[in-house]
Amino acid sequence: MPKFEPILLANIGKPDSHTLKVYEAGGGYRALKRVLAEMKPVDLIEMVKSTNLRGRGGAGFPTGLKWSFLPKDHPGPIYMCINADESEPGTFNNRILMEFDPHQVIEGIILSCYATRAQTAYLYLRCEYPTSHQRLQAAIDECYAAGYLGKNICGSEFSVDLYMHRGAAAYICGEETGLIESLEGKRAWPRIKPPFPAVEGLFHKPTVVNNIETVACVTQIAARGVEWFKSIGVPSDPKNPRDPGSYGPKLYCLSGHVNNPGCYEAPLGITCRQLIEEYGGGVWKGRKGKAAIPGGISMGLLTEAEFDTPLDFAGPGKAGCLGLGTAAVVVLDETVSIVDFLHNSCRFFAHESCGQCTPCREGTAWSLTMLNRIKAGKGRLVDLDLLLEIGDSIGIMPGTTICGLADGAAWPIKNAIRKFRGEFEEYIKRTNPDGYQSTEAARALPVLAGH
Ligand SMILES: Cc1cc2nc3c(=O)[nH]c(=O)nc-3n(C[C@H](O)[C@H](O)[C@H](O)COP(=O)(O)O)c2cc1C
Ligand code: SF4
Repeated sequence: MPKFEPILLANIGKPDSHTLKVYEAGGGYRALKRVLAEMKPVDLIEMVKSTNLRGRGGAGFPTGLKWSFLPKDHPGPIYMCINADESEPGTFNNRILMEFDPHQVIEGIILSCYATRAQTAYLYLRCEYPTSHQRLQAAIDECYAAGYLGKNICGSEFSVDLYMHRGAAAYICGEETGLIESLEGKRAWPRIKPPFPAVEGLFHKPTVVNNIETVACVTQIAARGVEWFKSIGVPSDPKNPRDPGSYGPKLYCLSGHVNNPGCYEAPLGITCRQLIEEYGGGVWKGRKGKAAIPGGISMGLLTEAEFDTPLDFAGPGKAGCLGLGTAAVVVLDETVSIVDFLHNSCRFFAHESCGQCTPCREGTAWSLTMLNRIKAGKGRLVDLDLLLEIGDSIGIMPGTTICGLADGAAWPIKNAIRKFRGEFEEYIKRTNPDGYQSTEAARALPVLAGH
């Protein structure tokens, strides 16, 4: 394993790392006490802004900038929503933090509330995480008893309440406005933006939504400072004034066909190959890698030849992927059929589309129909272009849908077919030798048994 001192994962492995006693013994909540005594909320926003911390939940939006969009001197409540839906396939870094270091997360939530002047925070947790639920609730109870939550925190004038809300774990509940709708007790249908949550969010009040790993970074920034954070990662591109860089440590989830799957902390910008070889011990069973998902399935695919792509906020995009996403890397070895991969991906997105936008609802359903047809030996070469047409026309990038789920559905289609077209053509010709050249309108097949 390469030499890099983990900070976000530093407590993991200590006995009882989830308890207040162990967290405080390691210096926990000292940063909170110092900030409350010495800094104004606006100073903390400026501090986070100057680190260029980018949200770890998938979109990579600069955190301090997001906070600064809240209306100044708002008289009513401001809400902080913490996104622990962790619904992107392959992603489990939030779970590791919540189960093994819940106080690092809670300290970050309290600091983020202080910066944004939110007095109520909701932590939205997927229901499939019972241990996270148990440990977070125990940690919240410890915080109330110790005066870190509730009225006049650590003797200051600042007060905040933190509530946990368990969602039923649909993928769309992780989209920030879907999450807000769900918190309000409704179906998690994403909202049309603008207005953005910072202006009109939960209960129509100004709201910030941040990911679990993002707030853990806030804890460490408050404890260690701006220079420490900016000494890690990839600086902003001087030729691109819109590039905020990729600073700080990152939790990479590595799974699939590797020898040592796990959650690893590394500087932003390590390459996919370094992650697989140096952290994951290489592709399993002595096989070669064929492809990898760079940051959750919705980011698309890197081919083996693209494994030297840096896993920072800019890298995967340059290799034709949607972005870094959640930095959850799933490795596919040389035996994997990309047709099967795409079939699985299409099943997922067709199932998870909330159905509000026609291009997403119909596009994801038709992609699955075509993949079912290809898998059943009735595929035509023309299907590949039809699939690409769908891929290029659904999502917020082409401007046809409300949320990014459709972009996430489109990228695996576009990457799989454009990067592995030969494999699709060969599969179709082999399984449908009589009909692969047909261009006649084809009827949908019933969904395959077991799918
Ligand atoms: C379909 C979809 C699912 C998402 N799921 C999650 C999720 O599970 N967790 C998360 O933090 N962000 C998720 N996001 C991103 C959120 O909308 C939002 O950008 C993020 O929570 C903001 O936090 P951050 O700025 O700290 O990253 C999802 C987005 C989309 C479009
Ligand atoms: S893009 Fe898809 S998931 Fe998102 S709101 Fe529209 S239909 Fe729902």
